[in-house]
Amino acid sequence: MHADIVVLPGDGIGPEIVAATLPVLEAVASRFGHRFSFAEHDIGGIAIDRHGEPLPAETLEAARKADAVLLGAVGGPKWSDPSAKVRPEQGLLAIRKALGLFANLRPVRPHPAALGASPIKSELLQGVDIMVVRELTGGIYFGDKTRTDTEATDLCRYSVVEIERVVRSAAALARGRRGHLTSVDKANVLETSRLWRDVATRVMREEFPDVTLEHQLVDSMAMHLLSRPRAYDVIVTENMFGDILTDEASMLAGSLGLLASASLGAGRVGIYEPIHGSAPDIAGKGIANPYATILSAAMLLRHSLRLEAEAAAVEAAVSSALDAKVFTADLAAAGQGVDTRSAAQAVVERLA
Ligand code: IPM
Ligand code: MN
Repeated sequence: MHADIVVLPGDGIGPEIVAATLPVLEAVASRFGHRFSFAEHDIGGIAIDRHGEPLPAETLEAARKADAVLLGAVGGPKWSDPSAKVRPEQGLLAIRKALGLFANLRPVRPHPAALGASPIKSELLQGVDIMVVRELTGGIYFGDKTRTDTEATDLCRYSVVEIERVVRSAAALARGRRGHLTSVDKANVLETSRLWRDVATRVMREEFPDVTLEHQLVDSMAMHLLSRPRAYDVIVTENMFGDILTDEASMLAGSLGLLASASLGAGRVGIYEPIHGSAPDIAGKGIANPYATILSAAMLLRHSLRLEAEAAAVEAAVSSALDAKVFTADLAAAGQGVDTRSAAQAVVERLA
């Protein structure tokens, strides 16, 4: 097949990890007989520098027309002045919203060879296979904000429709997995969470009676995620809780540099990006872990291009590289680790 992929490297380590991932997609194209075209555009801090705004119209236009979007990361100290009028992160939020990508899939599957990199005991990690579905276009991220000299507010708002559609996405995934859905909220305090719980309960009863539903409060979920991670199959939660819980969950896998994501909506186009940020502390050094971006590219193949065998081949190649202990610094013993390009090269070789 032929696919048009928009590439948004962004800031910090974004350009490095994206540059390491494109050869992996090229290797998939040549092995399976596809043709992928890549068109690079600006988003985030670099877009502020070049165009004065974090999401230029031409970037959004290109993304709308593409089959899929591969994104690196946005943000950095250069654009983090609290008094700045625009921030790189606004570009990321705006493109997710504009493309209607309400469901953010974040798989957490610790790899046997990387268990040593996790601060959690290995016996708790064996067999862990969680899919977190984070609501991505609503909640406190998108509510009205106010600021005076003496106070500030952020409004958290959710509609029934916003909750229904993300619960349906998560439940459909659970149906194809182990048939268990955990909905996470703070219904003992927040009205939006009480609505969330009511809607989730009704959708599951009416439409997914074959999938078991469990509710968890987000604070105790933060604990259970580390103390009994094997108990979870699919977790669905609102925007900010999902952001926080998945950085926590990355420690089950051993590194933030291993967690991929797919942001999906009603159509086929999706954004595929690692869950980590732009890591300004290591930007430009060529040592960032490219696996999260490569695994995001695998999700791109699966969800936007419907190339399941190709997606599985990329995942198997990463898995085999990890088996061979091709570790970047975040996974390796102190003072060791291969560079970004060598790790990506190990994946390309295994795909050839
Ligand atoms: C993520 C990031 C973003 C978010 C930031 C960069 C806006 O942390 O994708 O998890 O909070 O969604
Ligand atoms: Mn995050």
